[in-house]
Amino acid sequence: MTGLALAPVLTVAPNGAWAEGEGASPVHVSATLTPSLSHAARSGGRYYGAAARADHLRQDKALRAAILRDCEVLTPEIHLKWNSLEWRKGQFHFTPVDDLLAFADENGLRVRGHTLLWDQSTPDWAKHEMLDRRDWRLMSEHFSRVLGRYASRIDEWDVINEPIDTVSGAHALRRNTFFRAFGPTYIERAMEEARTHAPHAHLVINDYGFEYGNPVDKARRQAFVALARRLRAARVPLDGVGVQAHLDLSKGPIDRVGLQEMTKALIDLGLDITVTELDVKETEASASTPARDQKVADETRRYLDVMLAFPEVRGVVTWGLTDKFSWLTEQVDARVRADRGVNRGLPYDDAYSPKPMYWALEDTLRASA
Ligand code: XIL
Repeated sequence: MTGLALAPVLTVAPNGAWAEGEGASPVHVSATLTPSLSHAARSGGRYYGAAARADHLRQDKALRAAILRDCEVLTPEIHLKWNSLEWRKGQFHFTPVDDLLAFADENGLRVRGHTLLWDQSTPDWAKHEMLDRRDWRLMSEHFSRVLGRYASRIDEWDVINEPIDTVSGAHALRRNTFFRAFGPTYIERAMEEARTHAPHAHLVINDYGFEYGNPVDKARRQAFVALARRLRAARVPLDGVGVQAHLDLSKGPIDRVGLQEMTKALIDLGLDITVTELDVKETEASASTPARDQKVADETRRYLDVMLAFPEVRGVVTWGLTDKFSWLTEQVDARVRADRGVNRGLPYDDAYSPKPMYWALEDTLRASA
């Protein structure tokens, strides 16, 4: 499929909330779009989506067009995180989430709720308060505020993000602020709390580091299954798991058998699975662009070949759509970036040409139908 050009599939409608930036009008997807990643995913009963930020959507007409062509689902990359919603205690920033939801609503996209609890995105004031007072009401109020406002429009939530740590954790749980304040059962309590405020939502625990053959990934796979087993046995409201799938070319071959065993064990517990943050971190930026792009595509294909053999894998979300806006590029400091350029680990390059990774996604999603 490599090298196929995308047909122009977008029509532009007059006026609307997205008419800012370069003076663009909102872009609506045409009914006959093909090929597209959503189209391919839907043929297998799945969805395809991408993470995005409201400010990027507003600025960049080409991003909006690519999202409307390819995505059925959007994940707010940062705006639902606690430190984005409430950087200072009591001062709330709902506008970016509301903007992203407005864009989604106008265009018939669904939104994944990412994420209610993540240590790294918990504001300092909340961490201090939690550790000082150990008062669960802080958590209830946060859940009630966010879910009270959004649960009627967002029906799938990463309630807890990244709870596993097999290297310096306790019983394989990360010693994060929640763990230190409330003990290991913060997990059960958070899931129950989410269920109280979102009775009909699909509730998920999301984590990373399951793909490779090294001892840490192996231990993480076992720990993830053990956690899920414990929660299901205790009838804690957990509907599914999210596997982030930040693939990494420096980590050697994907452990197909290990990945299959973990996925099957999770499915046997009655859970379904979402690939929530797929992208590919590169190692050698000195290789030619076609060689780099081929490696990224091959890694994507190897991963999805395993995962999409399971019908219970309900959707694939990439952590961005274009290399222009990728956290993998954000992470590289400016000096290294000048030398290495952007990371090429997403379906479109930074000028919105689909790369071999796009076709690997399209092909594996369609082939698994
Ligand atoms: C990242 C965003 O992409 C960055 O823009 C932000 O600065 C930090 O968070 N795992 C997750 C995501 O669950 O929320 C992270 O997103 C990437 C790693």
